[in-house]
Amino acid sequence: MLATSLLTAALLVAPALAGSAGDWRTRTIYQLLTDRFATPDGSSPTCNTGDRKYCGGTWKGITTKLDYIQGMGFDSIWISPVVANVEGKTAYGEAFHGYWTQNIDALNPHFGTADDLVNLSRELHKRNMYLMVDVVVNHVAAPTNPPDFSIYTPFNQASQFHPEVFIQGDDYTNNQTAVEQGWLGDTNLPLADINTEDPNIVSIYNNWISALVKNYTIDGIRIDTVKHVRQDFWPDFAKAAGVYTVGEVLDDKPSYLAPYTKVIDSVLDYSTYFKVFPAFSSTSGNMSAIADFVQQAQGEFSNGEFFVGSFIENHDQPRLQSATKDQSLVMNAMAWPFVQDGIPILYYGQEQGFAGGNDPDNREALWSSGYATDKPLVQHVKKLNAARRAAASALPEFYANAAKFLVATPNTLAVSKPPMLALLSNSGSGSSPQWDVPNAGFKANEELVDVVGCGKVKADGNGGVSVKGNNGMPQILMPSSAAGSVCSGSGTQGSSASRSPVHVFGVVLATVVSVAMSFL
Ligand SMILES: *[C@@H]1O[C@H](CO)[C@@H](O)[C@H](O)[C@H]1NC(C)=O
Ligand SMILES: *[C@@H]1O[C@H](CO)[C@@H](O)[C@H](O)[C@H]1NC(C)=O
Ligand SMILES: *[C@@H]1O[C@H](CO)[C@@H](O)[C@H](O)[C@H]1NC(C)=O
Ligand SMILES: *[C@@H]1O[C@H](CO)[C@@H](O)[C@H](O)[C@H]1NC(C)=O
Repeated sequence: MLATSLLTAALLVAPALAGSAGDWRTRTIYQLLTDRFATPDGSSPTCNTGDRKYCGGTWKGITTKLDYIQGMGFDSIWISPVVANVEGKTAYGEAFHGYWTQNIDALNPHFGTADDLVNLSRELHKRNMYLMVDVVVNHVAAPTNPPDFSIYTPFNQASQFHPEVFIQGDDYTNNQTAVEQGWLGDTNLPLADINTEDPNIVSIYNNWISALVKNYTIDGIRIDTVKHVRQDFWPDFAKAAGVYTVGEVLDDKPSYLAPYTKVIDSVLDYSTYFKVFPAFSSTSGNMSAIADFVQQAQGEFSNGEFFVGSFIENHDQPRLQSATKDQSLVMNAMAWPFVQDGIPILYYGQEQGFAGGNDPDNREALWSSGYATDKPLVQHVKKLNAARRAAASALPEFYANAAKFLVATPNTLAVSKPPMLALLSNSGSGSSPQWDVPNAGFKANEELVDVVGCGKVKADGNGGVSVKGNNGMPQILMPSSAAGSVCSGSGTQGSSASRSPVHVFGVVLATVVSVAMSFL
């Protein structure tokens, strides 16, 4: 048992040699838009989101701001697609987001050079952080209609594309062939759909992803528009990538997402998102719907919810604060990804209180915030990251034990993921939600600490808890012994609890292992 936990501790801090799904499970991800996160010289140019223009963020800019990301406790970043996009102004502005591919064999010069990207990757790995890169294989973007296919590399023949038929409303639910072979976009900006049934194209893509991962030492791949490519395209692509793959399958039903968890490592947890967002958008949201959908996904996804990417915001959805400004609702919602089975993802700017609505308003420049670290939501995120690491450090099985819902009402949830018990509510600021959890699984009369508010609670004689919340805030209870120093002063970065002799031994062992491997 001791040997096992020492080994686990060693694996948790092992240097970034490869990013398997198992390696990613212990991580937390900061998603950023490369163009909007940081400029290379630290300047703060005006960035009107409505203009849909490049604002000046680069890979070098990201490299200079890794302290900010790591300071919140994140050990991984997800950046925008890196390949060259169509240039100039289209009907929907410039390709600052990186999703409008023109040439998969060249980098987007607005984001920097190959050396800059290599340097970002290297600087991340020095910090034992992982790099996730976004990729699009379903389509390229066409500034003209009909498209001029000669502008693309390497797919420059009309025959390498499906015929131009846009996916119509009902097709989305009735006709999966249309979803896979039809075109996204519209006549103002068609997204020309690549013929991913063609074996030559399949082979080009598999060689490409393999080279991309190797050239830039990428640890994980986020894949765009996965449901728009036939399912049996994906296993070989994922294998060629050789690292963790998480796909965007935009749908609100666990049963629609489930088959995709069998062809790539996992999916972004959109079915849960579509219940979480409304649950916390107002005090009349329905939190029991979250439990309902998560349990369905736990049953239907190939690894349950363990490898999903769990999120509240992203670049395609309105920010939570465009729906509510109630900070207790926001803090409850932000806690969700950190208390469930999947890999937590925070979309840049949520920690600064950004409130942009739909695309393009939700793509603000982070430099407008001054990267302040004293804001309440930044402090909240730090606590959530520290709490998750402390929980895993106290009980390595934390990551592998499926979350259980002990209370699920429209206004309260009690989520058990030992040693953590998360008490969430959407009753709002000023309210005093009540959670009665008779079988919470703690020891009789055990001393517990709420790592969010840092108050103390005592379990009853049966290991249950009965807690009244303060001002609508969430509580994350853990035995005081497991919480380590999450609540003892300033040391909330990473896991204070894991800075124990076991952790130090782990670092030494990991170093020995990596030195040994570097001689192979
Ligand atoms: C890589 O990034 C680091 C951190 O910003 C910087 O100090 C270093 O000069 C960069 N190296 C190269 C080769 O650009
Ligand atoms: C589904 O879409 C495909 C491709 O657009 C089309 O050929 C086919 O006729 C459609 N099937 C039905 C039942 O509408
Ligand atoms: C990877 O690097 C090789 C060698 O420099 C280059 O030929 C190839 O185009 C690169 N591929 C990608 C996808 O970056
Ligand atoms: C809340 O969600 C649950 C579970 O999905 C559902 O049974 C219930 O009807 C919903 N309640 C309201 C008020 O919408």
